[in-house]
Amino acid sequence: MAPTDPGDAPPAVPDGAGPFPGAAPPAAPPPPPASPPQAPAGTGPATPDAPTVAPAAPPPPTRAPGGAAGGPPSFRPDEAAFAGAEHLDPAFVAGFDRKQGEPDPEPDIALLREHGTGPHATVVDLGSGTGRFALAAAQAFGSVVAVDVSPAMRDHLTRAATAASVTGLTQVAAGFLSYEHRGAPADAVHTRHALHQLPDVWKAVALQRIADMLRPGGLLLLTDLVYDCSPAEAEPMFHRWVADAAAVDPAEGYTAADYAEHLRTEFSTFRWLLEPMLERAGFEVLRSDYRGRVFARYLCRRVGGTPRDGV
Ligand SMILES: C[S@@+](CC[C@H](N)C(=O)[O-])C[C@H]1O[C@@H](n2cnc3c(N)ncnc32)[C@H](O)[C@@H]1O
Repeated sequence: MAPTDPGDAPPAVPDGAGPFPGAAPPAAPPPPPASPPQAPAGTGPATPDAPTVAPAAPPPPTRAPGGAAGGPPSFRPDEAAFAGAEHLDPAFVAGFDRKQGEPDPEPDIALLREHGTGPHATVVDLGSGTGRFALAAAQAFGSVVAVDVSPAMRDHLTRAATAASVTGLTQVAAGFLSYEHRGAPADAVHTRHALHQLPDVWKAVALQRIADMLRPGGLLLLTDLVYDCSPAEAEPMFHRWVADAAAVDPAEGYTAADYAEHLRTEFSTFRWLLEPMLERAGFEVLRSDYRGRVFARYLCRRVGGTPRDGV
């Protein structure tokens, strides 16, 4: 269970862990599309006795992940197996946006814009889920690639994109460790509440892969649950976070059981581990914001080269 950022909701954990019902954080822009845009949906004619039905627009183009012939190496984690079973469950996916408080993607888009992501930019959204960010970003930037390992999430986004006649959106069935970016380097990468699905070694690999798909100066907007505390503070902070969970009904928000499951089974890391990973991958942190010492958002810029020494 991956609790999501409450966005502008007030911190639920005094001086400690984060809260819930949520909105989302800020994002940004991209350049020329990596794939053909969708056709706009038509306008539904109405007859007196029949409901108006807009002709469906074609779904966003989907491409398979790129990758080495022969499949992934045996040592690489099966990203779908690490993705959280609920994210693969169509019933959970159907209620996911409601559970997470229907987060507003506009702050993320505004932040990316403020830092130079323009209307022609190419943006990659890793772990795109139901596509709240990807759908809005596709209308703000030149092209958006929405990447997710979950067929249920991708299907949800396909339906939403078709219904909204969104253009400039491509979906890819892949993960942090398998997505192969094609075409011009990305101008920005967005990822929200997904990186914690990977253990730390693979987070570091994923961050390096993100740096490698960005142009120099490109942006990473990373939002995730990250623990801003020392090991000694961790258990007391976790107790407060779980105790302060706002929701009782799991359909309406994140409950104490959800938080406990996140702590027990997922791989959110410490701030003091994540920040060196970002630096090692070649990112400069432009700003970091923490809510409740758990919900983190990092805006990073890829600096010139990618450090690969000593490996
Ligand atoms: C908590 S949801 C967040 C979805 C979306 N980013 C949002 O903020 O609403 C996590 C998403 O990450 C996806 N995911 C999990 N592990 C992944 C991986 N290794 N690579 C790509 N996506 C992954 C899940 O399928 C799910 O859609």
